[in-house]
Formats: sequence, C-alpha cells, structure tokens
Amino acid sequence: MENIDWKNLTFGYLKTNYNIRCYFKDGKWSDLEISDSEKFSIHIAATCLHYGQEAFEGLKAFRGKDGKVRLFRWDENSKRLQNSAEAVMMQPVPNEIFKKAVIEAVKMNANFIPPYGTNGSLYIRPLLIGTGERIGVKPADEYTFIVFVSPVGPYFKEGFRPVKMQIARDYDRAAPLGTGHVKIGGNYAASLRASERAHHEGFSSCFFLDSKTKTKIDEAGPANFFAIKNGVYITPKSPSILPSITNMSLRVLAAELGLKVEERDIMVDELNSFEEGGACGTAAVISPISEIQDRETGAVYKFASGNKEAGQWCKKLYERLQGIQYGEYPDTHNWCLEIEC
Ligand code: PLP
Ligand code: COI
Repeated sequence: MENIDWKNLTFGYLKTNYNIRCYFKDGKWSDLEISDSEKFSIHIAATCLHYGQEAFEGLKAFRGKDGKVRLFRWDENSKRLQNSAEAVMMQPVPNEIFKKAVIEAVKMNANFIPPYGTNGSLYIRPLLIGTGERIGVKPADEYTFIVFVSPVGPYFKEGFRPVKMQIARDYDRAAPLGTGHVKIGGNYAASLRASERAHHEGFSSCFFLDSKTKTKIDEAGPANFFAIKNGVYITPKSPSILPSITNMSLRVLAAELGLKVEERDIMVDELNSFEEGGACGTAAVISPISEIQDRETGAVYKFASGNKEAGQWCKKLYERLQGIQYGEYPDTHNWCLEIEC
C-alpha cells in the first residue's frame, strides 16, 4: 500500500506505477504494452494534435468492505468509447482490448486503490488518439489507446455537500447535430471558458443550455443534471448531452426506490419547482445542488432541500449507488466486475 493521505485525496492526478498502451497500425491492434513512463513520443503531424481525433473515458474501481476490488460498468464505457471513436472517424477499440487493458491497469497499480472507508476510488482514464500523420483534414490510419489511473477523492471540493451552480448563456458547449453526445476532447475545450469563469465567480461549475433555443437545461461541463419533484426523477433528454452511465444507473435505482423516472426537456423556468437537484457523473458521483444562478438574467433558482445538506432522495440514491460500488449492497444488476488483486 502506498504512503498516501487517502482521506484527503482530491480529484487530481497522482503518479502511479504503470500505464497500458496498445497501437493500431497496418490494419490491426498490437498486443498490450505495459509502460512505467508517464510520457510518450508522438509525430508532429498526428491528427490528435491538429484535427481533434481524440476521445476518452472515465470509470472507477473501488476497494470494497470485503476487501474485493470492483470495477463499475466497464462494458458501458467501452461501448461509449466506440461511439466516440466512430463520431470522429477513429478506429474503435474492441471490447476485449478495452477490458483487458483496464483490468491490467488496475492490477498493475493495485497499491494505489484507496482503502475502504476513505471514500476514495481508483479513477481509470482510457484514451484513444489519432497518431498517424496527416496534413490535410482526413482521419489518421494509426491510433494509440492508453489506459492510465489515478487514486481520487471527490470531484467538487464540497464532496456530498450541496453546491451552487451557474447558468452560462453566452457560451455553447455543443450543437444539436454536433459532438455533445460523445466524449471527445473538443467538447471539454468548448466548456473551459465558461467553467473557469463560474469557478472564479464562486460556483462549482456551470450548466449549459440547449444551444438552439436557449430555453432548456442541457448539462454541466463534467456531469449530467437531474432533479426530483413530486416523487419523480427528472433528467434532460437532449441530443447534445453525454449519455452518463451514472445517470443511467441512477434511473434504475430511482425506479427501485419508488420514484417515477422521466427523461424529457427541462425548461429553465421549471427549475423553481424542483425539490432537489443534482449533478451526476463518474467523477462527481452525485453532487447535490442548493441553487442555480442564471448569470445573464440574474434569476436565482433555489431547491427546496436547501444548502445545509443533501435532500432525502439525493442521499438515498447516493447511498444505494455507492453501496453497490463498495460492495455494501447486493449488485443485483451485475454492474460490478470483481478484479483479483
Ligand atoms: N457529462 C459530461 C460532459 C461528462 O464529461 C461526464 C463524465 O464522464 C458525464 C456527463 C457523466 O458521465 P458518466 O456518468 O458516464 O461518467
Ligand atoms: C468523468 O466523470 O469521468 C469525467 O470524465 C468528468 C470529467 C473529469 C471530465
């Protein structure tokens, strides 16, 4: 076990021992390579550097109450990376390679998995980049797939305490027929200015509205939005948001907990009527929201649950989700893959 202050981990990069690499060249994928270097060398005309041929994933492994290590829903992340690859004309990574590389990355860095009870987890970051050279705007014919890991704590420093969010109307993250529904670097580049401004102005993050009509909530830079009212779990349905695996799981758990589930448009005006609101994602898990301020109109939407602690449904959903991930609740959906390490 590494000598790390596990209880005070933030969502930052920490060097671990190894990362895993795999190369697509001459029409086929190579065997996996284990590297102890954090660096790699790349052609100056690689398409990832010029034309944004880049996609990534984020998933987590958890050290459970019983000492076992559980990987959460890797197959969904693998599928999504394939969708992202296809959206920007990259060579998709086959499921078997994704799975093998992720498991190997966890096993090779097992002493970096935070102990049970510290609230930490091992964040796994697979990435796929175009490494073949091109000068014209064309997809590459060579790709590199890398999986590295880092032990992490909460994404927002408040952890599970309610945060304030901002609506940014003067920026768009993604267009309806663009790339918002896949996990590629360009979407994050487009979200940086608004997100950094939100931080400077005292908010945890900002929500983007649908870029066509500017009337509906889309999502935050790193997380989906959900809300609760009158026994209903409501989350936006939009062509320009990332289909969050956490949100997908919460919809199942919400139904099991007795909530009705609706995926539909959420108009900004409706924010006033919610009892609870939250941001959800692999990194964020569930971040309860106390209020959302619309930077341009000055409107402030406060959720009935208030700013002291999370509302009852956010708490129940969080406990159930983390309970499955840490092996405290039965994994009835087979979401976790146990890894021997
Ligand atoms: N939305 C965006 C833009 C994200 O980057 C993420 C993080 O992956 C999410 C939502 C949450 O998705 P997931 O729950 O699959 O991590
Ligand atoms: C995740 O939740 O895995 C993300 O990728 C969000 C953010 C760190 C980009």
